[in-house]
Amino acid sequence: MAKNVFITSALPYANGSIHLGHLVEYIQTDIYARYRRLKGDNVVYVCADDTHGTPIEINAMKQGIKPEELVERYHKEHSEDFAKFDVQFDIFYSTNSPENRHYSELFFSRLKERGYIYQKEMELHYCEQDKRFLPDRYIKGKCPKCGAPDQYGDVCEKCNSTYDTSEVIDPYCVICGNKPVVKPAKHYFFRLSAFRKELKEFIENSNFLQEEIRNYVLSWINEGLKDWCISRNGPYFGFKIPDEDDLYFYVWLDAPIGYISSLQKYCNDRGINIDDFLRNEESEIIHFIGKDIVYFHALFWPAMLMGAGFKRPDILSVHGMLTVNGEKMSKSRGTFITARQYLKHLEPFYLRYYFASSLSRKPDDIDLSISDFVNKVNAELVDNISNFTYRTLSFIAKRFGGRLTTLPTGTAQTEEVMRLIREADEYFSEREFRKAIQTINQICFIGNKFVSDMKPWDLIKKDETLCQQNLTWCANLCKNLAILLKPVVPSLSESLEKQLNLNNLKFSDIGFNLTEHNLGEIKMLATKLEPEKANKIIEPQEENKEITKDASGKPELIDYEYFAKLDLRVAEVLEAERIKNSKKLLRLIIDCGEKRQIVAGIGEYYSPEELIGRKIMVICNLKPAKLMGVESNGMLLAGSLPNQKIFLATFDREAVNGSKVK
Ligand code: MSP
Ligand code: ZN
Repeated sequence: MAKNVFITSALPYANGSIHLGHLVEYIQTDIYARYRRLKGDNVVYVCADDTHGTPIEINAMKQGIKPEELVERYHKEHSEDFAKFDVQFDIFYSTNSPENRHYSELFFSRLKERGYIYQKEMELHYCEQDKRFLPDRYIKGKCPKCGAPDQYGDVCEKCNSTYDTSEVIDPYCVICGNKPVVKPAKHYFFRLSAFRKELKEFIENSNFLQEEIRNYVLSWINEGLKDWCISRNGPYFGFKIPDEDDLYFYVWLDAPIGYISSLQKYCNDRGINIDDFLRNEESEIIHFIGKDIVYFHALFWPAMLMGAGFKRPDILSVHGMLTVNGEKMSKSRGTFITARQYLKHLEPFYLRYYFASSLSRKPDDIDLSISDFVNKVNAELVDNISNFTYRTLSFIAKRFGGRLTTLPTGTAQTEEVMRLIREADEYFSEREFRKAIQTINQICFIGNKFVSDMKPWDLIKKDETLCQQNLTWCANLCKNLAILLKPVVPSLSESLEKQLNLNNLKFSDIGFNLTEHNLGEIKMLATKLEPEKANKIIEPQEENKEITKDASGKPELIDYEYFAKLDLRVAEVLEAERIKNSKKLLRLIIDCGEKRQIVAGIGEYYSPEELIGRKIMVICNLKPAKLMGVESNGMLLAGSLPNQKIFLATFDREAVNGSKVK
């Protein structure tokens, strides 16, 4: 019987590009959603951009644009990237939506009415320069345990210890470098501790969590649950809390609510009743997430749902993290691969196939080893699967005019293939995609052996009818493969459907029943991955190359050609003025051989007047940028130690404007 299934992936932050780590999750979820659709279920696969919070607000401020604008840019980029990788959301919405405001207020008021939200005074770090409270990540200082400098306010990356922000030695504000003060502030707390018993029972007596995750979530519950601060002071990009002047919902409160509000938008647009998904006992709710955000989804979120009277999710499917060639993704090693960087070199279906063949229902990390990627794709997808469909279908096209006849009688392989198809079906439903892929390869192996044993090129001379019948059986196998591959590599499945002159195949079309039928035009499904090309995806991009240290910590030496790419020039400052509402930014008109406008962040150390007439050093081939809405076509060079006075790089008065620095 068809079921209503509400499926989600975690909402990506609207603050950066989609990378291959993200894609593990979106591809995993998409495979599952496509599988359920293929089986005839009524699926709504929901996602949205996670738009709120301090980093987005500060990032927008730094770029001189409104947070809404930043969020919109990423929404467009993310939507395009997902579409390219065939991630087929039924809706990709935003948490900065009227529906999400409505639901956030609804959750808040219900939880408050029922006594699950209370107010409490706290002592927080505050930057008087920037006039804002500083979250942990916006404070740095010396680690209280090992003394390492420039560590975050809550964790030391040198010695891995975690601590309270108040313990940090010589704390400074990450935005401006000044020392913060401690200031009291009143905040809202969610009484997570009140849900201890209910959460424990739920987790122990349901299939909500995978075994590996269940154990450590239960240990968190046993160690005691702390109440959760759900408000933040302004300036903040988020929803204002009703009846408050300067308090906003913390981003992690309204983010998961975004699952429901995006579903609401989907239902509104189609006149569907959301209760068919949220209240119906027969419906399923499945969240896919990575293991870094388990606490939010396994504890806070179900507790919020219980407290506000919503149905609990049925399954939380947690996956591991992606590593590249065995290591964490890293910008300087070039292994921080964005979706766009990948697309410059390779087609998306290779990656979908590879991720599928690496994923199980366990939350183990998965590794993208380029050599394994190339080998697996070539041995399985190309040499086994694509080879089978091409050799059989092109034979039918060439020798039988693309015509299928009746099926041969008593093909012994049919039963075994049908058994394996049921097995693959089972694996897909258990989210054991690696095993499903292995089974599909087994099926194909049987097909390839059938053809090799039958030797159609000989058989056609001896018994043309039997040969055509046997190949009709093979074409049926191709049809079954098109169905099984559909969730994993939809573009290849579609190509195979076209070759078979069929469309919109469903799981119920599985079987050996296609006879007296004309094929379409035949082509290779997939060609081999070349190792050189595949390796290109991990070549450091120009913009990611940091001239600092290599992996071993040694200073990285660069070639002269690399240096020569920098267009450094002598420039004279012709005009200078302060940019409105900014202490740091100055707008300069310079003569660097031509007239240009640049923006410089030296306003705290140089007045506009003292700059005019000076000969400074400018990099002229930097991509243009907008700061506080003012366009900058280059950057002046200056030296400073962290948080200390800045000194301009200057030339003698006689230096000629536009001279190249060599
Ligand atoms: N915005 C939050 C989620 C809110 S859900 C109500 C967030 N965003 S994220 O952009 O950082 O991550 C989105 C998803 O991608 C998360 O499930 C995260 O685990 C996953 N991944 C991000 N980097 C990843 C890897 N390197 N590897 C695998 N998954 C990764 O968290
Ligand atoms: Zn500051």
